[in-house]
Amino acid sequence: MRIGRHTITPNLILAPMAGVTDKPFRLLCKQLGAGLAVSEMTIADPKLWHTRKSRLRMDHSDEPAPIAVQIAGYDPQMLADAARYNVDHGAEIIDINMGCPAKKVCNVWSGSALLQDEALVARICTAVAHAVKVPVTLKIRTGWNRANRNGVAIAQIAEDAGIAALAVHGRTREDLYQGEAEYDTIRAIKQAVAIPVSANGDIDSPEKAKQVLEQTGCDAVLIGRAAQGRPWIFREIAHYLATGEHLPEPSPLAVRDILLGHLDTLYAFYGEPQGIRIARKHLGWYAKNRPENEAFRQIVVRAETVMEQRQLTIDYFDRLLDHLGSLQSHPQSHFAIRTPARTTA
Ligand SMILES: Cc1cc2nc3c(=O)[nH]c(=O)nc-3n(C[C@H](O)[C@H](O)[C@H](O)COP(=O)(O)O)c2cc1C
Repeated sequence: MRIGRHTITPNLILAPMAGVTDKPFRLLCKQLGAGLAVSEMTIADPKLWHTRKSRLRMDHSDEPAPIAVQIAGYDPQMLADAARYNVDHGAEIIDINMGCPAKKVCNVWSGSALLQDEALVARICTAVAHAVKVPVTLKIRTGWNRANRNGVAIAQIAEDAGIAALAVHGRTREDLYQGEAEYDTIRAIKQAVAIPVSANGDIDSPEKAKQVLEQTGCDAVLIGRAAQGRPWIFREIAHYLATGEHLPEPSPLAVRDILLGHLDTLYAFYGEPQGIRIARKHLGWYAKNRPENEAFRQIVVRAETVMEQRQLTIDYFDRLLDHLGSLQSHPQSHFAIRTPARTTA
């Protein structure tokens, strides 16, 4: 898929997730096969740009191209300024958030709440697309509510305003995350515009990615929750789409190395104590996919220092690998690693 001058290969994108898609996680997902990883949203109001949180969100040093930054707001001029500011700080793609139903965002009339006001959508898209030379993309839902699935109208407005690509989450704003994503509206949107469209919502396996690409005719898929604790999902899907075959599950040793690398980048990026807090969340997700890891989660999430958290993680995997070794020599052992269940959205 092309977004402006950027070729996105493979056509698998890490969806923007506030509190999740920070620089360490974006780097990891790109290493493990994502063709593009979109940043957490940055609020367009400049009053908030000088907080530590915003500074970390706007740090893109050493991030592989293309760097995609999401902005959220309601005022066309403010969003245009935010786009310019982020391009000056390294953004190579600007993504406008009209998909997020979070109260904090929608109460100030931004995120998916904007879908209700098509004239404002046009003004925002035009202002941002004209403000920067880099491509501007737009992330939307299928509409405001089920009675008002105006995704097709919004997509056409966006295309006319100069938006370079769209991402569509197959739920309405009112659906929040309930029910199942529907892909027929995404297909209708794809058919109504000439710009590239990415499909999003509940894609949690290679088969589901293939099915959604076929059903919608979209150019790419965006994956959010299924990448939490399972960042290798991108290479699994890429391999399946290319060959029709499944990669083997990553071994416990490979998972250990991925996890320790992730922890180290979190500690380096956030320092202590924030790095420990953020790592707890990810450790919980890694553990979630393996029911026997509940004990691990209980221990590691209580660690108070970087040293302790890292060491407990190493100890856990050492014990696990020892058990696996003894399992091979004593196959009657009852301890076994279960194949992780696919993350359900
Ligand atoms: C924790 C979390 C944070 C999110 N933050 C954002 C955000 O900042 N911007 C945005 O456009 N969407 C955000 N989303 C929505 C996701 O990008 C995505 O559209 C949604 O999770 C559906 O995809 P999935 O089923 O693959 O998770 C967020 C979702 C989650 C779970």
